[in-house]
Amino acid sequence: MSTRLKVGLIGLGAIGAGMHVKYLDDLPSVELTGVCDQVKEKADQIAEQYRTTAFYDYKELYEKADLDVVILAVPHYDHPKLAVEAFKRGIHVLCEKPIAVHLNDARMMTEAYEEARKQYPKLQFGLMFQERTLPFYRKVKEIVASGQLGRLTRATWIHTAWFRSQIYYDSGDWRATWAGEGGGILTNQCPHTLDMYQWLFGLPARIAGHAHIGKYHNIEVEDEVTAYFEHENGMIGHLVATTAEIPGTNRLEIIGEYGKLVLEEGEITLHKNPESMLKYSQETTHRFSQMTAEKSIVPYDKDAPAGHQVVAEAFFHRIQNGDSHELIAEGWEGERSLVLANGIMLSSFQDRTIQVPIDADAYEAKLKELASQSTYVKDVSAAAAANEDLSKSFGSL
Ligand SMILES: NC(=O)c1ccc[n+]([C@@H]2O[C@H](COP(=O)([O-])OP(=O)(O)OC[C@H]3O[C@@H](n4cnc5c(N)ncnc54)[C@H](O)[C@@H]3O)[C@@H](O)[C@H]2O)c1
Repeated sequence: MSTRLKVGLIGLGAIGAGMHVKYLDDLPSVELTGVCDQVKEKADQIAEQYRTTAFYDYKELYEKADLDVVILAVPHYDHPKLAVEAFKRGIHVLCEKPIAVHLNDARMMTEAYEEARKQYPKLQFGLMFQERTLPFYRKVKEIVASGQLGRLTRATWIHTAWFRSQIYYDSGDWRATWAGEGGGILTNQCPHTLDMYQWLFGLPARIAGHAHIGKYHNIEVEDEVTAYFEHENGMIGHLVATTAEIPGTNRLEIIGEYGKLVLEEGEITLHKNPESMLKYSQETTHRFSQMTAEKSIVPYDKDAPAGHQVVAEAFFHRIQNGDSHELIAEGWEGERSLVLANGIMLSSFQDRTIQVPIDADAYEAKLKELASQSTYVKDVSAAAAANEDLSKSFGSL
């Protein structure tokens, strides 16, 4: 297919208007056929600025704009409904993270996608996990996948570089509420980290989570989380995350029998053991002395293209060239970060270690109970007026 793809964009807020519409306007392979926001002024203003048609209702966009593709950039609870309606019409979906708020909704989306593929065999479903494209994460993935660390024993990720102020939380009435957002740092900021954890190490078999609700902000969801993961092969994992640290940290330590890989502040350090630590531990005749690891800084291409546009271009390329062309993140993969996010919260609510597969029904029921009790109301008027550089919100080193 060499004709331009007809793309629609739903949700013209921070990420829709601040990011997606801009690169769509620059890409020669696509035509922005329509933009949609339930706030009429936003849709009218963006449609005028980008010379396209404004819609105020997603179904109208689907029915009238003759779309090939839709990009969903609305709050998370609406991702399933908008995606399923698109699949039914044979419209390809590139969905913002997280795929959904809870696992049952994510499963429903992937099932609806598989069902629609029977009628539209070329239909595509991708997710906006643009942090997978960041060069330092790609390099870490390459090293882990190469197996050069041998059997992995521990991965510890301290990711606290997600600072959010109270005015951030107040900038949307849906934000940081059980009814409107469905979660806090695990649902909004950390889906990238959780996705990357499972992308690098797979899913654990057991999860123990400790989440603190509104500890540092006036919000009704979690803003500080510590989690412990146990994998079937014995590897353990840790995640420490909060939106309340300055300066924040993004440090990932991966330990294997052949050494240690550390990513911090964009620098990757490899400590390589001369032989297997597990073997050495069993065979050495010394009680305390250790073998010496060789330390090196791992080079990588810091200027390699990365970000939302790279994910979108890969998605468009797949549509135009077929299933053998890789996506950055497939739709079904979104379930996996939800296993972690929902699993940590379920463990925290139940105050016990939980098994994977997690009890998705129990988590959905708990979420519904919390949402039904949600009484939180905020004044978004002042906060909504704040206009800041959106790139400051993305994952940083
Ligand atoms: N990939 C990333 O790094 C990244 C960054 C920011 C946000 N996001 C995700 O993008 C989504 C949107 O976040 P945001 O920060 O832009 O939110 P936002 O509140 O700034 O914007 C959402 C927009 O969607 C509109 N909207 C809501 N429901 C709608 C519906 N049913 N139909 C049409 N319009 C609707 C709202 O009026 C608003 O303009 C969220 O899922 C968020 O997690 C991803």
